[in-house]
This record gives sequence, C-alpha cells and structure tokens, in this order.
Amino acid sequence: MILLGIETSCDETGVAIIKDGDILVDLVSSQIDIHSIYGGVVPEFASRLQLEVIGPLTSKACMIAGIKLNQVDGIAVTIGPGLIGSILVGVNFAKGLAYALDKPFIGVDHVQAHLFSPFIEFRSLSFPYIGLVVSGGHTELYTVNSFTDVVLNGKTIDDAAGEAYDKIAGALGLGYPGGPLIDSIVKKSKNMTKDSAINEKNIKGDKHIKFPKALMKKGNYNFSFSGLKTAVIRYIKEQQSPLTEHIISKIAIASQDAITSVLVEKTIALAREKHIKRIAVSGGVAANSQLRNMFMSYKDEFEVYIPSIKLCTDNGAMVAFLGYQLLKLGINGNIDMDAYANNTHIPERTRITAP
Ligand code: KG4
Ligand code: ZN
Repeated sequence: MILLGIETSCDETGVAIIKDGDILVDLVSSQIDIHSIYGGVVPEFASRLQLEVIGPLTSKACMIAGIKLNQVDGIAVTIGPGLIGSILVGVNFAKGLAYALDKPFIGVDHVQAHLFSPFIEFRSLSFPYIGLVVSGGHTELYTVNSFTDVVLNGKTIDDAAGEAYDKIAGALGLGYPGGPLIDSIVKKSKNMTKDSAINEKNIKGDKHIKFPKALMKKGNYNFSFSGLKTAVIRYIKEQQSPLTEHIISKIAIASQDAITSVLVEKTIALAREKHIKRIAVSGGVAANSQLRNMFMSYKDEFEVYIPSIKLCTDNGAMVAFLGYQLLKLGINGNIDMDAYANNTHIPERTRITAP
C-alpha cells in the first residue's frame, strides 16, 4: 500500500511517500531562514511559504520515489493542531488531490503522528508503551495501547518544552529555533568543562545556577515550563549586560538540566507506575542530545525508542505512516473533515482518555 503524507502544521513543509510502512522518500522544506530573522514563526509568512512549496515538493517526492500520483492508495494530511493558515494549505491541497485522483483522504492529528512515529524505524516496538511527545507546541505523556486507544496521562499546563527552549534562547539573544542552539552550546561547554574552561571552581565567586522544576509531586504527570522561563529571564536581568559567553553557557546548561530532568523523571515514573517496559520519545525536542542520553541511560530497565533526528522534527513520513495504519484498520477519513488549530477537536475515531 502506497501512502502520500503531507505535513504543513507550522513552518516546515513535509511531503513523504511510504510503501507498506517503509519510507520511499521523505522531503522537508524548512522556513527557518525566514522566521529566524524575526526571532520566531510569523504565521502569515508561514502559510504563504507553504503555498509556494507544497506543489513542487510533491512533484519532487513522486519523481524521487519513481511513482505517479495516481499510484498512491491514499493521501494523509495533518488536519491539526498547529497554525491554522499553514494547516489549511496542506489540507486543501490534499483534498484537491484526493478528489481529483479519487483516492481516500485521511486526516491525521499531528500529535498522534509524532506519538506513533517511533514505529517507522523500530519494528520491535509494540503496544503498550509510554509515549512522550515533546515539541514546540506540545508536551504530552500518554499510555499508548493501540493505534486507536491512547490514554493521556499528563500535558503541559502552560508552555511546551520546545517553547521554553525557544523563549529562553530568545532572551539570551541566541536566535530561533532555540532548542538546537542551546543543545549545541551545552554540548560545547560540557566538552570545554573537561578542560576546565567552564569549571566553576576555577572562577572566583562563580556560583552554580539552578532553575526551578515545577509540578514534581509524585503521581502528577502534568508539566509546567513558564516558571522556568520567568526565572531565567529574571536571572538574565540581574546580570551585567551584555551577557558574557560564560554566563550564557551556564544559563543554557541550567535551563537544559531543568527541562530534560523533568521530562525524564515524569516519563520514567509513569512507566514504573503502569509497569510498562517500553518508552518511546518523539517530537522536535526528542532531537536533544542530553534528553536522548538521559533516556538511554535507562535501557537496562526499559526498552527505549527514540527516532533519528529527522523523524523527531516535523516530517511527512510520520503523517503517511499513521495514515497507512488507519487505512489498514479500515478507518478512512472523508473529504469533509475540518482543520483545527488546537487540541479540542481530536478526531473521534481515536479514544483519547483524559487522566
Ligand atoms: O516537532 P517540531 O519540529 O514542531 C512542532 O510540532 O512544534 O518541534 C520543534 C521544536 C522547537 O521548539 C525546537 O526548538 C525544538 O523542537 N528542538 C529542540 C532540538 N531540536 C529542535 N529542542 C531541544 N534540543 C534540540 N536539539
Ligand atoms: Zn511537531
């Protein structure tokens, strides 16, 4: 079965073609160069750029996969959540194709596409598993029982983890997107620390920074990152301007420690509570090297599944893959499916149980 997957929920245009669950082609066109000028995603630009790119990228994907569009068995597309202008570009494009080619139209939820994306690379993954989706718009912890039975155990009550990364990086003057920038500063600093460049003991009066972690009571699987963001901004204001490289590194290290440790601790605690031995981590923040290492350090106790970086950040393959699974289960969407900007319209076909 050949599926075309289209992802346009934010500032990336993703087009993928998969055959029986295997990727034939997975193309992503990023708009980062434009949005980084403004320090964040400008929704109006995002949707206009989606419109420019989606047609040519789909033609290119078909060419690379060596197929004609009418050979696909279904067209899967992200119908939400995300930036509604961007989503509408992908949805209407997919609807047009589905109608013209008379193929099934499968509307896919973006968060669920992330949630199931580890299957694309890890055939040994099976249900049930604890799934952490951690991205620029989402931080959610699920017990995943099947492609159509997912229990939401916790989610952020304010900022998403990736949003915290992006806002902290913005406050530090590092640019957008913040996650990869902070990740690489921390990596570099920690390597230098080995040669004592950032070794706190070597710098007189230099204190270790520690930022707060929220909602850490046992059994609470919700997240909150806005307090961390505020604490970082307050700390920055107390420093001499401009910030030295040393201070930036220390803030980056302390922020990343706070974010990653909360994500890991809650996920591990939930897996232990539910006696579930498999953990899968997905979404853009799952590209973070420290988060990956921290989760992998539990591999004696759990099977840990984290996709390669290209499949962590937004892509069409995860959309095509979930579309394929739904189509195999006989769950067709229909061309009247609506797009949605937020979480409140999760497609009814998947039972999402709140805690
Ligand atoms: O999944 P994604 O591509 O888009 C959304 O659905 O939001 O995630 C984007 C987010 C951004 O906030 C970005 O800063 C973050 O993922 N991100 C990272 C890393 N790479 C991307 N965060 C931490 N470390 C990284 N290496
Ligand atoms: Zn995403």
